[in-house]
Amino acid sequence: MSRPKITIVGAGNVGATAAHWAAARELGDIVLLDIIEGVPQGKALDLYEAAPVEGFDCRITGSNDYDDTKDSDIVVITAGIARKPGMSRDDLILTNAGIVGSVTDEIVSRSPNCILIVVSNPLDVMVTKAHMQCNFPRERIMGMAGVLDSARFRAFISMELNVSVEDISATVLGGHGDSMVPLPRYSTVSGIPITALMKPERIEELVQRTRDGGAEIVNYLKTGSAFYAPGAAIVQMIESILKDKKRILPCAVLLQGEYGHDGIFMGVPVKLGAGGVEEVLELELAAEEKSAFDESANQVRELIKSLS
Ligand code: LAC
Repeated sequence: MSRPKITIVGAGNVGATAAHWAAARELGDIVLLDIIEGVPQGKALDLYEAAPVEGFDCRITGSNDYDDTKDSDIVVITAGIARKPGMSRDDLILTNAGIVGSVTDEIVSRSPNCILIVVSNPLDVMVTKAHMQCNFPRERIMGMAGVLDSARFRAFISMELNVSVEDISATVLGGHGDSMVPLPRYSTVSGIPITALMKPERIEELVQRTRDGGAEIVNYLKTGSAFYAPGAAIVQMIESILKDKKRILPCAVLLQGEYGHDGIFMGVPVKLGAGGVEEVLELELAAEEKSAFDESANQVRELIKSLS
């Protein structure tokens, strides 16, 4: 039996960090691909040279050649430009749509049965673009955003209440942008909703910090966007699929009537297992939660129009 094959397209900070976490967890053999010559090769070799110290057995290949990605089980697309301070994720649309479109073509012609995880921004539009190119069944194409956004919310809750991150779970729905919908009612500390532990005004501040979580990092870094938490979030999705863990994680998937929407990628809780997206879970939403979700869907629809 051979190891699973994971391709990561884009050897920038997000791609390389995902490769790092995936290798450390021995999830499979990894191909790190980029158009820039030398960078994927250098980062892959450097990471492999950590293997004897850290004790992980996986092959890590850096490449500029899509033929090396053939027959991947999972492909992660991180390729594209990142934000600079003052830019929104939406400012990246045209450049990144071109990149994600051609990357998707190159990938699916060599790995027609892979599970595709799109990470490039603006996420909801880029996963839509990839789907237009490959028309994969919705089980095998998804966007990474909700795991990251809910991890940020969990981190902020942990800092606020001074409790272990392990005991906190949080739910964030909707698009990966200013309209994302963190759900305090479905966010808990050891089963206790945070609405019972914090004042509403303070929760609202943490919700807003979560919405601005990506920009907060961009403003610090100035030359790029976040990568540790995005990388870890990607790897949690990969792990749930490859180990058939069937974790319930928020991911951007193609809705087919759920939450009253059809034919649009939105962040919702899904069951991730060996079959990819094995189930879409529909939470009961209060009126204002539902209208925030609808508003987020409208914003995503508007952005998608600029693709055509
Ligand atoms: C963020 C970017 C990666 O949220 O979308 O940090």
